[in-house]
Amino acid sequence: MDLLAPPTLGSDRPQRLRQSPAVRRLVRETRLDPAAFVLPLFVRGGEGVRDEIASMPGVFQLSVDEAVREATEAARFGVGGVLLFGIPARKDAEGSTASDDAEAVQRAVRAIKEEVPGIAVITDVCLCEYTDHGHCGFIDSHGGLDLEGSLPQHVAAAVSHARAGADLVAPSSMIDGVVGAIREGLDAAGFGHVGIFSYAVKYASAFYGPFRDAAESAPVFGDRRTHQMDPANAREALREAALDVEQGADLLMVKPAVAYLDVVRQVKDAFPDRPLGAYHVSGEYAMLKAAAGRGWIDERRAVLETLTSLRRAGADILITYYALEAARWLAEGG
Ligand code: PBG
Ligand code: ZN
Repeated sequence: MDLLAPPTLGSDRPQRLRQSPAVRRLVRETRLDPAAFVLPLFVRGGEGVRDEIASMPGVFQLSVDEAVREATEAARFGVGGVLLFGIPARKDAEGSTASDDAEAVQRAVRAIKEEVPGIAVITDVCLCEYTDHGHCGFIDSHGGLDLEGSLPQHVAAAVSHARAGADLVAPSSMIDGVVGAIREGLDAAGFGHVGIFSYAVKYASAFYGPFRDAAESAPVFGDRRTHQMDPANAREALREAALDVEQGADLLMVKPAVAYLDVVRQVKDAFPDRPLGAYHVSGEYAMLKAAAGRGWIDERRAVLETLTSLRRAGADILITYYALEAARWLAEGG
């Protein structure tokens, strides 16, 4: 062999398809469409309220009128849906205000459905924002969690959201049986047409930190490791997803997103007929904002690359605090 001869490159040269923006765009395998984005919104009482969350720059606790404005802006840029979380006026041990038709989430659903009919309205169904102890269900007489005992209150909350006009309800508490209980409750109350977007595969993650500031829902003692999944488990994700499909979940979700792309792929392959959402959570958002704020990464490119990776892994729907910003960037050409 003549070591000084020029190397043969062969005739199969992938680089040919990368020579111009036009050809790169033409052969791109994965595309981002704001119609598949869902923007989470934190709603509270009052009027004209726009309180920025310290650990989530660009994300606000909004009064209902401001939430309508945000949803209007999202719809204008083609965002497909909003996911509503509530900060209630009052909390108690049973999270009673979660099912109050006059609470912020229920009022926001009605207002957005009326004023922004083109956007899908999804509500998070859990009690942790509504309980004074911050847990997703009840506390028993020994100070332990009685999550199953709180299922009727989850159902009442979901029915109340459906009554307000929610298109989809999204149970996020990871309590065994919550999807089936809500399906039965919705059907019995005459809301057989309202779909369930289940947080089927939700890990006990450190990346929810900023959310608990935003939603004022941090547990005052203990943690959520007895009901949310162990980050080390992927096979178990398929078991969780199968159970929720059995119980009537119309859409599935994996959460968080970036650290769980293998799980997104496996759930999509196992349940190809269910739309799959990936929730790019508060901590994932905060990391990008923090690095971008210091000039350490190019925010637009890093965010669009991240969202593309979620779609490439198999997610159909992207739930992200970047939904509106990303939709604006895409409108400008990416
Ligand atoms: C409530 C809920 C949480 C998130 C969505 N719904 C917090 C939690 O489980 O502690 C997290 C969302 C995020 O971090 O962006 N059960
Ligand atoms: Zn919860």
